[in-house]
Amino acid sequence: MSFQKDFAWGVATASYQIEGAWNEDGKGLSVWDVYTHEAGRIKDGTTGDVACDHYHRFKDDVKLMKELGIRAYRFSLSWPRLIPNGVGELNPAGVKFYSDLIDTLLENGITPYVTLFHWDYPYALYKKGAWLNDDSVQWFADYAAKVVELYSDRVKHFITFNEPQCFIGLGYYEGIQAPGLKVSKRDIFQMAHNTLKAHGAAVIAMRKAAKQPIKIGYAPTGSAHYPATECPEDIEAARKQVFACRPLNSTDLMWSVSWWSDPVILGHYPADGLEMYKEYLPEITEEDMALIHQPIDFYGQNIYNGKAVSGETGVPTFVPRETGAPKTAIGWPISPKALQWGPRFLYERYGLPIYITENGMSAHDVVSLDGQVHDPNRIDFTHRYLLEMEKAADAGVPVEGYFHWSFMDNFEWGYGYTERFGMVYVDYETQQRIPKDSALWYRDWIQQH
Ligand code: FCB
Repeated sequence: MSFQKDFAWGVATASYQIEGAWNEDGKGLSVWDVYTHEAGRIKDGTTGDVACDHYHRFKDDVKLMKELGIRAYRFSLSWPRLIPNGVGELNPAGVKFYSDLIDTLLENGITPYVTLFHWDYPYALYKKGAWLNDDSVQWFADYAAKVVELYSDRVKHFITFNEPQCFIGLGYYEGIQAPGLKVSKRDIFQMAHNTLKAHGAAVIAMRKAAKQPIKIGYAPTGSAHYPATECPEDIEAARKQVFACRPLNSTDLMWSVSWWSDPVILGHYPADGLEMYKEYLPEITEEDMALIHQPIDFYGQNIYNGKAVSGETGVPTFVPRETGAPKTAIGWPISPKALQWGPRFLYERYGLPIYITENGMSAHDVVSLDGQVHDPNRIDFTHRYLLEMEKAADAGVPVEGYFHWSFMDNFEWGYGYTERFGMVYVDYETQQRIPKDSALWYRDWIQQH
């Protein structure tokens, strides 16, 4: 067995995607509340107002996790549920909700992994300029300190940001997620820099506030490209491609691994980006870099797919996928090798224990005549990906956790409820939960590993 004994076999969710109760018990607005309430933003015209109603059903949800043998649960906190204005007064009902959730998890032997921010930014702070305002660094650090003060008596694992690539890149540059803006390049690099500083300031604040030793991680994303064959040229080409910065003219300019992770773990921005982006960058001081570069305990990355890269011509080149190559319902390529080479390359560059903070697929799941949800495609997907992850562990990469996205079907951002990523099926009319076949398969896998 190549996985360590206390490997964190888990599932993941995010507050806005499951909680509902969007305006209950004193919760403040988030940018996602505002964005989804505007016609034309979400594919099926829905919102997260109710979502999986997890706010009211968390006890049953945790009970189900326990029945399914889940060992660890990665969830996020809604910042405006805890602090309605983003700064200042706490909302007692919000504080209690997460406290009760944490207690329920612990009572059921499930280890909580708390993500501080998974995109539902306080609208009150958005109105003050959000990440473009230099004060956003302190706002986030204060929030992080509060969270750790409140919960670190019971929670040992915290994650600062989920996918800054998305909440900055998709939210403010491509404009396809909340708040749906398309700001200038100068602004976007300033926002990205402030986000990184906020991460660093939060780490410092969290260590200070901690009531027991805590582990802090980070959960960015990025394509995990892999070598077309295992020859050294292809491996080197894939490595280069994984960490290359996006060219300045690309729509997904913010979507690189190195721009978001090198400063955090290595203490400097990647040279190719510094050169390409120089006319748009804010002033970057040595002090800033020292702030960003705080020691953290683990490196998380959300990995869904990657592309095969060949080094045959001397320039890294993507190998076209074969006709009819497998893809998920949302259209993402099924590429299990991403879960071997992703961790390998990331460990090689960053040298920290690796967590797969998200991995999974959407499928066209239906409730069959027998009342069950049969999803052999998700079982096959997960099995193939996990076997590749095992190869990374066998090759000496300290992979310490895996969180399947997602525990249950939920509000998939711009896609609304049209994509089902869960191992548990949710009937949104009745809020009934039905564990899919994959959930039972995963329970057995966890038992065996
Ligand atoms: C990731 C997000 C997560 C979910 C999955 C499918 O980018 O972090 O919330 O939407 O994709």
